[in-house]
Amino acid sequence: MKTGLCAGVLVVAFPMADVSQAADAEAGRSIADRWCAACHVIPDGDADSRAVRGTDAVPTLSSIARDPNHNPNWLRQWLIFPHPPMPDLNLTRSETDDVIAYLQAMAR
Ligand code: HEC
Repeated sequence: MKTGLCAGVLVVAFPMADVSQAADAEAGRSIADRWCAACHVIPDGDADSRAVRGTDAVPTLSSIARDPNHNPNWLRQWLIFPHPPMPDLNLTRSETDDVIAYLQAMAR
């Protein structure tokens, strides 16, 4: 199967997923930097800006990434339908995949 390489990231939860575009952890990092750092501490970022913006009332992205219950499908569901108090960020499907790739890379 041709998509074998990316199978870990592109597990297709939604039939319409655009699988032609590979998820990109580096793009995910900049999305996380822009959209998640306001609330979640991003550990490998440039400390100045991020450490102060994240709050310890919210799990850090690295603790989320390392939690074995948070597999890519779970994360995708969460990002598409987050529960309050986390807002719906309206990420596109490929942005969601990129963020998941970034979290997967962080967990390694
Ligand atoms: C406006 C603040 C805010 C932003 C922005 C935000 N989050 Fe959250 N997030 C939260 C809060 C608050 C929770 C905790 C929800 C809870 O306790 O039920 C949370 C929970 C989560 C969880 C679930 C953790 C768990 O263990 O249940 C994930 C995964 C997550 N966020 C990922 C992200 C990602 C990825 C982004 C960026 C694309 C992001 N969040 C942006 C506030 C935010």
